[in-house]
Amino acid sequence: MSRDASLTIALSKGRIFDETLPLLAHAGIRPLDDPATSRKLILETNQPRVRLLIIRASDVPTYVQYGAADVGVSGKDVLLEQGGEGLYEPLDLRIARCRLMVAGRPGVAPPSTRRLRIATKYVKSAARHYAAKGEQVELIKLYGSMELAPLVGLADRIVDLVESGNTLKANGLVPLEHIADISSRLVVNKAAWKMKHDTVTVLLDALREAVEQRAKRTPVAVPTGGPGSQ
Ligand code: PRP
Repeated sequence: MSRDASLTIALSKGRIFDETLPLLAHAGIRPLDDPATSRKLILETNQPRVRLLIIRASDVPTYVQYGAADVGVSGKDVLLEQGGEGLYEPLDLRIARCRLMVAGRPGVAPPSTRRLRIATKYVKSAARHYAAKGEQVELIKLYGSMELAPLVGLADRIVDLVESGNTLKANGLVPLEHIADISSRLVVNKAAWKMKHDTVTVLLDALREAVEQRAKRTPVAVPTGGPGSQ
């Protein structure tokens, strides 16, 4: 890392944090606390001018857009939903990979007397998907556990992330349509890109190298659980 500027990096706890950590280590950045055990929301690192913000995944683009963080790691699902405006998205980190899919109960035909009801946390992505197909649907916003909705008659289909396919399977649902491949992206505040260009570039280059090295070591995972895999 160059020493010309401070750098604030926004991350979410859990899988994104865990999978970003080795990439940051390649850039010489190691947090001094573990968010799994610490309640701190600002983590200092071994580099005095670099700190990590631990925030909700859906808030990462907001912190970066407003410049409260210079860079962040955000799922493409979140960026698709929020529009990713006011940000640069220079690098696919190829972590937290999954697919955004339409799923439903097998063999259940769409209703003939009303619009198809879709339950989802991803309302904008779902709306774009059905608009592109020219299908008018009713979207029902949920905040989690979407798989329940078709089981209790709340919705005919869901739009949700599918990774292993185990959650769908455990609830008797099947993947029906692939909407998008999802992975985490490095996002950069537009002003930081200009004002802290050297620092951001050093980080970006180190992360890109780490991603490429890992891709060489690890064969591409074969996705399972949906039409996207066939
Ligand atoms: C995600 C997603 C699915 C599940 C898919 O949920 O919403 O429910 O993981 O993974 P699988 O295909 O490997 O079973 P998550 O656990 O992140 O919780 P939430 O979306 O309900 O917050």
